[in-house]
Amino acid sequence: MDERTIFERAVLDGAFRVLITREELEKRIQELGRAITKDYRGKDPIVIGILNGCFVFIADLVRTIELDLEIDFLKISSYGDAQVSSGQVTMLKDVNAEIGGRHVLVVEDIVDTGVSLKYLEERLQALNPASLKFVTLLYKKEKAKIHFDIDYVGFEIPDEFVIGYGLDHKQILRNLPAIYVMD
Ligand code: PRP
Repeated sequence: MDERTIFERAVLDGAFRVLITREELEKRIQELGRAITKDYRGKDPIVIGILNGCFVFIADLVRTIELDLEIDFLKISSYGDAQVSSGQVTMLKDVNAEIGGRHVLVVEDIVDTGVSLKYLEERLQALNPASLKFVTLLYKKEKAKIHFDIDYVGFEIPDEFVIGYGLDHKQILRNLPAIYVMD
């Protein structure tokens, strides 16, 4: 019997195809951090990560932003353990910070159908922030039907099931250090 973990098989055997390497992630995140630092100078933004998937990306991203920023999190779910969005977004943990009048930058790991982002845009805009922008590491631009431009995009990707670097398969494999495609 094969006693290796799925993680080991993914990394060692090449069971999953690498879509974006650690080096590519690091380089692109540095670029995003530089752009955000420049755009938000003098604004001291509040950076809001959307749990759970954002946790690796936001940790790396904020360390490339040279500003006095605040960090908070909110948690929504539209997938559960499924691979296809339910189309219904549930708020599991709301943001704690007061965001009225603040410059808000929302951090997502992936925009897939766009359902989550649309929900977040409506909900956060209703709280009257001074500004509201979005950064996503991965963007399925062809698939998502977003009625506004996403301010900062790491990588546009095709419509494939991706895992690693925060993104899960049935809640595991978030700790893979690169982005992989599960064929
Ligand atoms: C993922 C991801 C985004 C959302 C994107 O969250 O983190 O929030 O799906 O998909 P959409 O564009 O189709 O709405 P998920 O609900 O899987 O929870 P997780 O972050 O805890 O994995």
